[in-house]
Amino acid sequence: MAESRTSADGGMETSYGFREVAEGEKQVLVNEVFHKVAYDIMNDVMSAGLHRIWKDAMIAALNPRKDPAYKVLDVAGGTGDIAFRIVEASGRLAHATVLDINGSMLGVGAERAEKKGLSDNLTFVEANAEELPFEDKSFDAYTIAVGIRNVPASTWP
Ligand SMILES: C[S@@+](CC[C@H](N)C(=O)[O-])C[C@H]1O[C@@H](n2cnc3c(N)ncnc32)[C@H](O)[C@@H]1O
Repeated sequence: MAESRTSADGGMETSYGFREVAEGEKQVLVNEVFHKVAYDIMNDVMSAGLHRIWKDAMIAALNPRKDPAYKVLDVAGGTGDIAFRIVEASGRLAHATVLDINGSMLGVGAERAEKKGLSDNLTFVEANAEELPFEDKSFDAYTIAVGIRNVPASTWP
């Protein structure tokens, strides 16, 4: 679990792999990782395909409503893998907003949405999970998959 603590100079520190880094520096390092890799391929390789099983279990637990009024916010959504699964599980009726701090990841997702004919079901928003740019109660569900570790614990609600 991500933990933040006060460093010797009074700033906030947090864990990044085996290192302790300043909180602001962690976000820069996290962004660099996701800009450098072909993320979807990396996921398959690093989890030996297991992430697909975890994600299927997550979507089954969420059990999205088959309803055009059903709205989900997928935070740290990357290329939209979770959001696509939600929309498909709703019979292509639900709407998912993919929020991520990395515009390149979102761009890949937006292209994919267009190719799949799902542009009306998906919105891609570049923003920080720590400062969500939405009114309260805008969504029926909030999901975050393999993302909470990138958000310093001191900013959790
Ligand atoms: C491991 S990926 C998970 C992507 C997607 N949820 C999935 O399961 O395929 C983590 C994502 O978190 C995003 N991220 C990291 N820090 C973030 C922050 N502070 N706010 C929003 N997104 C962030 C990264 O850009 C990356 O796309």
